[in-house]
Amino acid sequence: MHGDIERVLIPQSRIAERVRELARQITADHSPPALAGESEVTIVPILTGAMIFCADLIRHLPLPMRIGLLAVSSYPGQSIRTQGSRILGEQLGDLRGRHLLLIDDILDSGGTLKLVRSLLQERGPASVKTCVLLRKPTEGARATPVDYVGFDIPDEFVVGYGLDYDDLYRNLPDIVTLKGHLLRGKSDTE
Ligand code: IMP
Ligand code: MG
Repeated sequence: MHGDIERVLIPQSRIAERVRELARQITADHSPPALAGESEVTIVPILTGAMIFCADLIRHLPLPMRIGLLAVSSYPGQSIRTQGSRILGEQLGDLRGRHLLLIDDILDSGGTLKLVRSLLQERGPASVKTCVLLRKPTEGARATPVDYVGFDIPDEFVVGYGLDYDDLYRNLPDIVTLKGHLLRGKSDTE
């Protein structure tokens, strides 16, 4: 697995530092008097990619919270470009009147957040905020407003810290790029 890495883009120490900074900002925005009415939040990680980021982030959020789960597929198999986002499953509970914080690993075309945001809005929440660990410099990303961003990164395919290629490499602790020959998968031109 480690022999597949081309270079480390963001080492785990920098990720941990930035996660704590994001958590401080989110905590301030979700504590009274910033948050009116209901003070509990519902955290919604978009699975599977946001799993590790979310697990680290919420342990630095001293807020009353529930967790709703949503699984979305956009890069099935050996894809390094979006194939369109699709909801695979959900376990969200009752979202009426709740303050939601939607968490994703990376913002690329914006298709995933757009789809998920519209699904959640239909459930009558009090508010919906969004948080992504990474953002690519794409037109779609620029057109997609997000409330919290960890890092702006170059337009390269990255894995690790939850992000995958063909469902692999999620357990790498750093965010890395892969050697080019590994990404010459079949499905981007299909
Ligand atoms: P979007 O829908 O194009 O904004 O892409 C968001 C989703 O695509 C993320 O939730 C990731 O699962 C996946 N994705 C986008 N870029 C990458 C990448 O560089 N590596 C791994 N997954 C990615
Ligand atoms: Mg994802």
